[in-house]
Amino acid sequence: MAEFLTDTDFEKYRALIYNESGIHFSNSNRSILESRLRERVKYAHTDNLTDYYNLINRDPEELKVLLDSVTTNLTRFFRNTAHFQTLEYHAIPDLVAEKKKRGENRLRVWSAGCSTGEEPYSVAMMLRDLVPPEIAIELIGSDISLKSLMIGKEGFYPENRIVGVPERYLEKYFEKKNGGYQVRDEIRNLIKFDYHNLKNDSGLRGLDLVFCRNVLIYFDEPAQKATVNRFWDAMNSHSYLFIGHSESLFGMNTQFEFLKTDWACIYRKFLKFT
Ligand SMILES: C[S@@+](CC[C@H](N)C(=O)[O-])C[C@H]1O[C@@H](n2cnc3c(N)ncnc32)[C@H](O)[C@@H]1O
Repeated sequence: MAEFLTDTDFEKYRALIYNESGIHFSNSNRSILESRLRERVKYAHTDNLTDYYNLINRDPEELKVLLDSVTTNLTRFFRNTAHFQTLEYHAIPDLVAEKKKRGENRLRVWSAGCSTGEEPYSVAMMLRDLVPPEIAIELIGSDISLKSLMIGKEGFYPENRIVGVPERYLEKYFEKKNGGYQVRDEIRNLIKFDYHNLKNDSGLRGLDLVFCRNVLIYFDEPAQKATVNRFWDAMNSHSYLFIGHSESLFGMNTQFEFLKTDWACIYRKFLKFT
């Protein structure tokens, strides 16, 4: 039987996916790419990988579907307790104090690569409880997975996905219905979910907190560095960056300062005014 994904196809598709998203398929991940491509060739009613390649070159929507299909969307509420402790005991109190000092009344947060929304909702609940009402909270949740974004926008999670939500938040910010939990509008309305490919500049500016956790691992180093540099431009002169606990900016020569707190290691952008 003829091989489905030849070496030439593999190179062609992995270059395309990398150029379009920064996601890097190593040789050891070849079988994952192959199985996703098999599905797309079938569902798009094309005959083979050459026809499918022609299709994605003329149909940007199918390209989005392909990119969506090669993403890993695993996430959960309050993922990495140490990060949320750092947020609660270090970043939020510091940002609130800084806002008061500067007379600013808005706190902007970006969950970049937010998947199905558990990350921005977790952050939103904590902010709602800890940020004084005179400071407005704005969150943006973005991803290239349209399927995931739709779940995030809906804010409805089956019972088994709710694991990890502290009881006090569950009672206050969720409504139990139809075998699952619906995030209440008070929290849902704080977040704007949007399609954004981290390969491009988001145009966002003045961010106080950026979460980009468990996303950079899918990029190679040049794509990681370009993404992180764009975060720098998007962030306020006094702000924090959270990346996944298995990810690091070590050796990347970025302008971010490494910060070891009592709970977790994060990064900050602190520009001193003269
Ligand atoms: C493993 S999930 C992480 C979700 C969440 N941040 C967390 O830590 O639980 C990775 C997410 O990154 C998204 N992603 C991958 N490449 C991306 C890109 N180029 N632009 C935007 N999002 C991307 C995927 O679609 C996926 O939803």
